[in-house]
Amino acid sequence: METAKRKWWHDKVVYQIYPKSFYDTNGDGIGDLRGIIAKLDYLKELGIDLVWISPVYKSPFVDQGYDISDYYGIAPEFGTMEDFDELLAEAKKRGISIVMDLVINHCSDQHEWFQKALADPEGKYGDYFYFREGKDGKAPSNYRSYFGGSCWEPVPGTDKYYFHAFAKEQPDLNWENPQMRQELYDMINWWLDKGLAGFRIDAIINIKKNVEFPELEPDGPDGLAGYHLAVEQTSGVGELLEDLKHNTFEKYDAFTVGEVFNMHDGELPEFIGEDGHFSTIFDFSAHCLTEGERGWYDAPELDFKAWRKALVESQLEVQEIGFKANIIENHDEPRGVSRFLPEYARNEAGTKMLGTVSLLLRGIPFLYQGQEIGMQNCVWESPEEWDDISTKDQYKTARGAGLSRDEALRVCARMSRDNARTPMQWSGDSNAGFTTGTPWMKANPNCSEINVESQQRDAGSVLHYYQKLIALRKSEEYKEVFTYGQFAPAYGEQDHVMAFYRSMESSGAASGEGTAGKRILVAANFGQDSIELPLEYQVEKVLISNLPKNHAGERLTLAGCGVMVLECGEKAAV
Ligand code: GLC
Ligand code: CA
Repeated sequence: METAKRKWWHDKVVYQIYPKSFYDTNGDGIGDLRGIIAKLDYLKELGIDLVWISPVYKSPFVDQGYDISDYYGIAPEFGTMEDFDELLAEAKKRGISIVMDLVINHCSDQHEWFQKALADPEGKYGDYFYFREGKDGKAPSNYRSYFGGSCWEPVPGTDKYYFHAFAKEQPDLNWENPQMRQELYDMINWWLDKGLAGFRIDAIINIKKNVEFPELEPDGPDGLAGYHLAVEQTSGVGELLEDLKHNTFEKYDAFTVGEVFNMHDGELPEFIGEDGHFSTIFDFSAHCLTEGERGWYDAPELDFKAWRKALVESQLEVQEIGFKANIIENHDEPRGVSRFLPEYARNEAGTKMLGTVSLLLRGIPFLYQGQEIGMQNCVWESPEEWDDISTKDQYKTARGAGLSRDEALRVCARMSRDNARTPMQWSGDSNAGFTTGTPWMKANPNCSEINVESQQRDAGSVLHYYQKLIALRKSEEYKEVFTYGQFAPAYGEQDHVMAFYRSMESSGAASGEGTAGKRILVAANFGQDSIELPLEYQVEKVLISNLPKNHAGERLTLAGCGVMVLECGEKAAV
């Protein structure tokens, strides 16, 4: 892999913005494009190269913009196309590229295509979607949508239904229709012509359907089968993804990151190998560990060893093939600090430790807004505080399974997507300095302790630590090893340690050119107590340490929640 073709995006650090909650400049309580422009210098200082912006297209916001009613328009809530163009230009001045969200498995039921399809299901636009007749007065098949309830919505006044894998306001697009595909490709190229660096591609595995929509074995008391089961049994998505790539991204050398769940075994090379469908896909292996069988209400607690194993296995597999995008959180997930750290570690030291592990793994690091200051899950007082369509469904499911109001509140509070959607905490002011008006979603009350303003003043803060970490990863001296260096797990026999080497063989050293070899050890103690470990290599240099009590000499001492990044020298004498 070290010798594989180098791509312009291999060494980039990405930051995800959820625009609605990032920064509001006109006091309407909704984050906007001008808010992103206002914070570009902040992102530059953090060391960000690429910014992925969650959808800003016109939308009724049933699923917060993931239901697009006009692919060519900016939602007025966020601003105008002029604002967008200015954002592109201002970002470019700072060496930052923009990646947009591409939601093309489905659109909004308010999209012109769907409105025309509803008016005439037999006409041209009817075939842009999946309309099917019901069976014996019931839906065409027994699939449960990702947001609960049937995947089939009856069309009033007809015997037909239309298909939606997500909410009923998000009808799925028929990818078997070449004309529909061409319309999407034209739209994608139109955006790329504007100068986008690429796209994050939403829910893309769902585009391939078994158009027979066969009945499946139910997996719940509602008699329905989760739609993901149908996806797992369907093959052929690769052809569609290649068609998409050839007609769009490839021509622009665009960066693409796929949101891919339910890939079949052995398919990774096709997805992200040298000529894969995408540049990269997210690594969700750790996130899948806390998914419940039936829903959030039976989601297991995170087990440290299972988490470590999942990451290590994923790293070992992918390095032979390509690059994954490493995340601890995004707009669909609870905050990483609240999820992946035990309670005693949900503090500055633990937050820095988790960030170090995530950012120095092999792959493309993605940060989600607020991660760089250690934002945590919110405290939710009542289900009415939630906005998210998925959280509301999960709450209903939990109540349906017999949980009391308080129990259901607790399980959903732990997993809710709204944990990631509370306003970015710019300051300790009311509403976290996000807006001068009333925020569309309440601010996390802990903004008085966790916020950008106070962390900018404190040289030891999480924010400054993240800046250092990113600078280290991108530094001339270490960029090569952190980008292309092999991953090898270490100290796997220790109960609470997540550690790995990143190493690079020297190349062309004989001719005096090329790069010197390097070996870096990243070692983190997720336990509460200090530990001492033998060192396999002499310590050449301490590159980063999160606690004064950590020490690297003959042996390695890591305080509870301690992490160190060490440059290794010669093998140590035993
Ligand atoms: C993706 C998005 C999520 C959205 C869903 C439907 O999973 O990340 O936010 O709800 O697709 O578009
Ligand atoms: Ca606004």
